[in-house]
Amino acid sequence: MNPVDHVAIIMDGNGRWALNRRKSRNYGHQQGLRTIEKIVDYSIKKKISYLTLFTFSSENWKRPRKEVNFLFKLLENYFKKNLLKVIRNGIKVKIIGNKSKLASNLRKIIKLAENKTKKNKKISVQLALNYGSKNEIINSLKNIIKKKQKITTKNFEQNLYTADFPDPDILIRTGGKKRLSNFLLWQMA
Ligand code: IPE
Ligand code: IPE
Ligand code: MG
Repeated sequence: MNPVDHVAIIMDGNGRWALNRRKSRNYGHQQGLRTIEKIVDYSIKKKISYLTLFTFSSENWKRPRKEVNFLFKLLENYFKKNLLKVIRNGIKVKIIGNKSKLASNLRKIIKLAENKTKKNKKISVQLALNYGSKNEIINSLKNIIKKKQKITTKNFEQNLYTADFPDPDILIRTGGKKRLSNFLLWQMA
């Protein structure tokens, strides 16, 4: 087996990258999306089974409304245009995070993408969307209490968004900063 089975990436620095080139922050986000495609292709080539990408954090709602809307539209349009390609390339897509706050159009296309790709086996790509690790942890505990389960590591992990995936072997953060930004706190232990 590949010793690196699961790669997690905090995709940071897109805005700064673009501003340094006298372009808009949103241009940086567009290029970031193209880079994701390259990373997914390369990961398949390297036989990496899981890729988890921090796409939008629960804290990112504090950004200007225009930028937030642009980011979600970018994702929605990507799946509208490319879902067939994603299916054909054997990519399994899963969203981790709190979907309830997302716009209904985006939720619909995400659900379609998850359903149409659920049997794909080449790589499993998790998009962390409206994801926050502290929230995920509280949420897991609430589920355990609701289900009247015992508080054990196993039960706790099975109630996280990441229940179906092994913990990451490596975390990459682009953009030059060294911060976790509320990403996979438990899983990175
Ligand atoms: C991308 O990088 C992360 C997303 C929220 C999509 P940033 O938008 O944080 O870019 P910088 O860090 O401000 O340069
Ligand atoms: C982390 O980047 C979140 C994502 C990559 C989605 P941010 O730019 O939002 O994080 P901070 O503000 O530097 O912690
Ligand atoms: Mg940033």
